[in-house]
Amino acid sequence: MKIGIVGGTGDIGEGMVMRLSPLYDVIIGSRDTEKAKSVCNCTLDVCEKRGDKPCTVVGASNQDAVTCADIVILAIPFKHLVSTLETLECFENKIVISPVNPMEKRNSFEFVPPSEGSAALLVQKMLPKSTRVCSAFNTIAANKWRALDEELAYSVPVCGDDADAKRQVMDIVNHISKLQAFDAGPLAVSSMVEALTPLLLNIARYNKMRDVGIQFC
Ligand SMILES: NC(=O)c1ccc[n+]([C@@H]2O[C@H](COP(=O)([O-])OP(=O)(O)OC[C@H]3O[C@@H](n4cnc5c(N)ncnc54)[C@H](OP(=O)(O)O)[C@@H]3O)[C@@H](O)[C@H]2O)c1
Repeated sequence: MKIGIVGGTGDIGEGMVMRLSPLYDVIIGSRDTEKAKSVCNCTLDVCEKRGDKPCTVVGASNQDAVTCADIVILAIPFKHLVSTLETLECFENKIVISPVNPMEKRNSFEFVPPSEGSAALLVQKMLPKSTRVCSAFNTIAANKWRALDEELAYSVPVCGDDADAKRQVMDIVNHISKLQAFDAGPLAVSSMVEALTPLLLNIARYNKMRDVGIQFC
């Protein structure tokens, strides 16, 4: 299975690439192919030092990360979501994962969704009807993705309307470290998942904690 990461050079993108590349073929997307290739080389170095055997990892344009992938992760900030999606095509019949959290730092962190209700619903509206959108990975901090010596022992709520797409996304989640996927319902309720991150950031801030995550039990 090929996973393309649009914005695979960013804070969560880089850690995702390192965690996913021993498991799946990964295409790192960027607006700047050289930047993506540099993240690719860095990933290969890290894999070699750790004795991990990566599948195929390549640095590419964001468009190639979409075109060549079966599953696309949109690892870009909410404020650049619309402008980025407007430049990309070939999403037909693909599964798209949105970890995007629309929020702003005011006095505290606040959930500021678009008029569609959530970033994931905005993504679904912008992409072709055949694209199956799920939200996942919204609550895993970038520092935790990158801390390869630590297990990722978190719960991951997954929302989506297509049962097969959701099953495939949950399967990917369950293959990464100790992440545990939970079916959180249809995409219509993805706002509740996206709103968890400003909550976690406020909890971290007001309780002097770092990289707070969630576990359902
Ligand atoms: N950071 C976290 O801890 C965390 C946790 C959970 C979920 N998330 C969500 O994951 C998404 C990515 O977060 P992040 O912190 O990884 O973001 P980020 O590092 O700020 O940016 C990710 C990538 O977006 C691209 N980008 C930056 N400016 C852009 C622009 N003007 N137009 C198009 N692309 C642009 C850049 O890639 P290129 O320069 O290579 O094109 C950058 O590497 C967000 O939606 C966030 O809500 C983040």
